[in-house]
Amino acid sequence: MPHPYVLLSAAVSLDGYLDDTGPDRLLLSSPADFDRVDEVRASVDAILIGAGTIRADNPRLLVNSAERRAARIAAGKPEYPLKVTVSGSGDLDPTANFWHTGGEKLVFTTDKGAERAGRLGLAAEIVSLGPDLDWRRLLEHLHEVRDVRRLMVEGGGTIHTQLLQQGLADELQLVVSPLFVGTPDAPRLFGPGDYQAGRLRLVETRPIEDVVLIRYEPTAPGTGDLPSAADHHWLALACDLAADCPPSQTAFSVGAVVVAEDGTELARGHSREAGDPVVHAEEAALAKLAPGDPRLATATVYTSLEPCTHRASRPKPCARLILDAGVRRVVTAWREPDTFVTGADGSGVLVARGVSVVVLPEYEERATAPNRHVLG
Ligand SMILES: NC(=O)c1ccc[n+]([C@@H]2O[C@H](COP(=O)([O-])OP(=O)(O)OC[C@H]3O[C@@H](n4cnc5c(N)ncnc54)[C@H](OP(=O)(O)O)[C@@H]3O)[C@@H](O)[C@H]2O)c1
Ligand SMILES: [Zn+2]
Repeated sequence: MPHPYVLLSAAVSLDGYLDDTGPDRLLLSSPADFDRVDEVRASVDAILIGAGTIRADNPRLLVNSAERRAARIAAGKPEYPLKVTVSGSGDLDPTANFWHTGGEKLVFTTDKGAERAGRLGLAAEIVSLGPDLDWRRLLEHLHEVRDVRRLMVEGGGTIHTQLLQQGLADELQLVVSPLFVGTPDAPRLFGPGDYQAGRLRLVETRPIEDVVLIRYEPTAPGTGDLPSAADHHWLALACDLAADCPPSQTAFSVGAVVVAEDGTELARGHSREAGDPVVHAEEAALAKLAPGDPRLATATVYTSLEPCTHRASRPKPCARLILDAGVRRVVTAWREPDTFVTGADGSGVLVARGVSVVVLPEYEERATAPNRHVLG
């Protein structure tokens, strides 16, 4: 199920803290960076913070610039983004600024938390996600019910940690501030645990007065049938490779990327690459790796079209090559139509042998675009 694009935003001290332990919020950012944050807020459909941040900082979460608000209205959007909070306990202060400023409000909570929050008379919709807070269901709800396509998450640390650990963050916008907090019990940006993030990809660095904005993207594939945000990035790359194939009237244009568990790209390929008129994308990518490469057992193959099951031009179809390589996870955008082979079911063949196959239909249009001429 589709999720919004999830952008994590935080300012952090040089020693990794989000705040000090004093009663007032520690100002880590600079004036020009607060204005940048205002611009990011103006660009999203919703802003999410944890109940801990409401209690500690009592923020308003506004778009302060009148021009940016006017531009939102001119674009047919609400003046302010939807404000979202997360609370397991339902222990929320109804007098907090969060409820009395800016856009519409939405609380995600548990069954237990909903009982408590429901008695507070909050000017907000309260949505229970069941006995526990499930982040995937929360993101699906925002996408499906509230039409949220871009979500900005402004902390605190327990929220950022969970979204990165569960592979649900598309982007991290980190502002590093030239300050030390030095108090071990101050809130940290990231807590301990197992991060499904990989080695993050650096997208941008930007000095802003005396702070530095660093933008990163997680790279780690999802696990089993559960997609990660980085799965989208890699599948988009496979679709871009499909668009680079030499055109053909008798075969599809497909792109493929093989990615290790830690987010390292191992190989890529596309149809008819390097002058081979019949080579397939997955075949071309896998051929660049040594058979028995130990990273293949935990790798993911991204392919714009599901792997083929029948081939006249080579002894082994791609589904077989994937199984022989020991790959256990495939992410694809598009199920094979009957254009060249009737009843192909590469996904079914792989699933029957225990491979997880994730189809992300949001990318079908990008995967089919270089093939329009053969689809009729
Ligand atoms: N520098 C920055 O950019 C920045 C940004 C934001 C915040 N901060 C700082 O961060 C600190 C607050 O961070 P924090 O980590 O304590 O709080 P937080 O992440 O804002 O909120 C944590 C709260 O969210 C709810 N929650 C989160 N995950 C949940 C789950 N899986 N199930 C149920 N409930 C869940 C719980 O609420 P309940 O307790 O109600 O159950 C939990 O106590 C403050 O000091 C603030 O100043 C700094
Ligand atoms: Zn093939």
